[in-house]
Amino acid sequence: MGFDSRFYDKAEREIKERQANNSRILETRRNDAETKFPELALLRRAISGTSGKLIALIADRSGDIKPRLDDLERENLALQDKLRSTLVRCGYPEDYLDPIYSCKICRDTGISDGRLCSCFMEAVKKAASDELNSSSPLKLCGFDEFDLTYYDDTEPTSLGATARKIMEKNYLLCRKYAEDFHLPYESILMRGRTGLGKTHLSLSIASVVLEKGYSVIYGSAPDLFRRIEKEHFGNADNGVDTLDMLIKTDLLVLDDLGAEFESKFYVSAFYNILNDRMNSSLPTIINTNLELSELEKRYGERISSRISTMKKPIFVGSDVRILKERRHK
Ligand SMILES: Nc1ncnc2c1ncn2[C@@H]1O[C@H](COP(=O)(O)OP(=O)(O)OP(=O)(O)O)[C@@H](O)[C@H]1O
Ligand SMILES: [Mg+2]
Ligand SMILES: [Zn+2]
Repeated sequence: MGFDSRFYDKAEREIKERQANNSRILETRRNDAETKFPELALLRRAISGTSGKLIALIADRSGDIKPRLDDLERENLALQDKLRSTLVRCGYPEDYLDPIYSCKICRDTGISDGRLCSCFMEAVKKAASDELNSSSPLKLCGFDEFDLTYYDDTEPTSLGATARKIMEKNYLLCRKYAEDFHLPYESILMRGRTGLGKTHLSLSIASVVLEKGYSVIYGSAPDLFRRIEKEHFGNADNGVDTLDMLIKTDLLVLDDLGAEFESKFYVSAFYNILNDRMNSSLPTIINTNLELSELEKRYGERISSRISTMKKPIFVGSDVRILKERRHK
């Protein structure tokens, strides 16, 4: 299934915006440089003069234009050379006043070799994943807002260390994971009871990874599985192929696994997502309240054996939602 035309429109606007931004940058560069070094303005006018004459001559076609054409071309090239050397003498790179392109392949036209350029398809994918993420609180959580003092530092937990120590380790693991993010990359399963910061830390990772320019999709298992089901049975109205996007996005954050309604269809969708992503070494972050044994019981051996290769931080402590409320009273 392809993408909705709405996403193509959005991508086209995005590419036009890039063109406009780049011309603005060039314009500013030119104004600044020409104010400081007026000879640059003279050269620019001389170059556009010869270019204008060239065009007029080509359109003319009367008589033998070849010698005049050669002369003009030589003049034009000499002026361009002069511009470059002048720029360097004035302390700029020689291509400082060349057109700026975000995509060198298609020069920001969105088309290369008569086909849509990869930069255009990236913009289409981005538009589609923005739509999937539009209901998520992606910008609300960050590592800086994660407060370790919510976790007890006095009593050892059943895992040995105090909750604070364990959560500090989890926090550092997530931070490092986000900072070192690259492809291919490993996956994480965050598990633990409610309100301990799983969603908070996975959204913190997501925003760092997005910032680095990777595509990220965040969603809760109940919501994403429902979408896939709707699309599978042909009741979707949004033109998005959610399953395909979840499989292909650079990072998938699948929140609240186990909170969805139990169904064979969901288990097989989940298996497809996980298996395809792992086969292409794409990382997935999964959050769940379930124990490993419960995961195996619910999703079967094929899924749990894939999950067993992930990093598996365990979240401990008391429900931060409740602690926060108390602190603010
Ligand atoms: N260490 C923390 N510092 C600051 N805020 C936190 C911390 N841990 C959790 N919170 C906040 O508490 C609330 C609950 O945390 P979060 O949603 O991350 O829990 P969770 O582990 O995902 O729970 P659930 O299993 O119910 O989904 C959120 O508003 C979150 O921002
Ligand atoms: Mg959560
Ligand atoms: Zn391009």
